[in-house]
Amino acid sequence: SAPPKSQYELYTLTTWLLKEEMKGTLDGELATVLSSIATACKQIASLVTRAGISNLTGLAGAANIQGEDQKKLDVISNEVFCNALRASGRTGVIASEEEDLPVSVEETYSGNYVVVFDPLDGSSNIDAGISTGSIFGIYAPSEECSVGDMDNPEKMMENCILNVCQPGSSLLAAGYCLYSSSTVFVLTVGDGVYGFTYDSIVGEFVLSHPNMKVPDSGKIYAFNEGNYCAWDQGLRDYIDSLKDGSNFHGQNYTARYIGSLVGDFHRTLLYGGIYGYPGDKKNANGKLRLLYECAPMSLIMEQAGGKGSTGTQRVLEVCPEAVHQRVPLFVGSPKEVDYLESFCKKD
Ligand code: AHG
Ligand code: MN
Ligand code: MN
Ligand code: MN
Repeated sequence: SAPPKSQYELYTLTTWLLKEEMKGTLDGELATVLSSIATACKQIASLVTRAGISNLTGLAGAANIQGEDQKKLDVISNEVFCNALRASGRTGVIASEEEDLPVSVEETYSGNYVVVFDPLDGSSNIDAGISTGSIFGIYAPSEECSVGDMDNPEKMMENCILNVCQPGSSLLAAGYCLYSSSTVFVLTVGDGVYGFTYDSIVGEFVLSHPNMKVPDSGKIYAFNEGNYCAWDQGLRDYIDSLKDGSNFHGQNYTARYIGSLVGDFHRTLLYGGIYGYPGDKKNANGKLRLLYECAPMSLIMEQAGGKGSTGTQRVLEVCPEAVHQRVPLFVGSPKEVDYLESFCKKD
């Protein structure tokens, strides 16, 4: 019989990665990249928690390619991620919300993975000390890319972009870290979704949410209704039906909106419901970026039994044509996303 469980056994992210390797669902090189990302998230968690007393709130004084004024912590978190991925020696190409173009990593020793990330999501919340997060996805290098032609920069860049622009269905791993009342690292390597809560006394992410499954439905919706008048009629009819009870629950929903995809997503994953960032009259494809926000989060939700949709198709089937391409995102309980799609397909 199994030895008695020691009360001092600590099931950490490192332990979990090792067991996934032993199960054959994860190769050692990928485990190394995931460990380096977890280290970056620990560093960002400490920076975010102390932003107000280390002069890290406010603007960096520059804008990113998205036209967003970068917060100081957008820039610093990006640096933290890039440093950690370079140090892992397994990263070939990096794409970030805060980098105009993909970055090829010379220090690659092996593995050569493509890592896409949003280093600080919901950064408008930083100065108010409200939930933020980091989001990441990991791809294998795409086979149609020849090895970079060192003395042909155009060819090199072309290869980098080809490596990065892969559909979410090709993701090997995806995850996020929530910086809130708890610091929670959530990931999938294609074998279910696992959550690890940071124990600052030990300095480790400890398994707290094994095999996460989203509830089949849930009466909580997270949309920025400030944009209601700019939405399509079908979407407005959908939102109206949540509020007046004329929906498949026969009751009205509760509205929750944190302004941080990671925060709203994590609550949706645990409690059920739906998060949406629709396209509108001003931005037909909405605000969220396919590569490092919508695709990784859709993979996680699907692995937890939920759905990620653009309103008309599965997010994971959309192949990016550009690194910072935006798509509308509706993600959450399967019954809630199906119900929403029944309105969007009417348009
Ligand atoms: P980021 O801070 O990485 O640019 O992403 C912010 C995103 C997402 O986290 C959040 O749900 C959404 O923007 C909030 O946008 P609005 O303020 O327009 O609602
Ligand atoms: Mn941003
Ligand atoms: Mn974001
Ligand atoms: Mn961001």
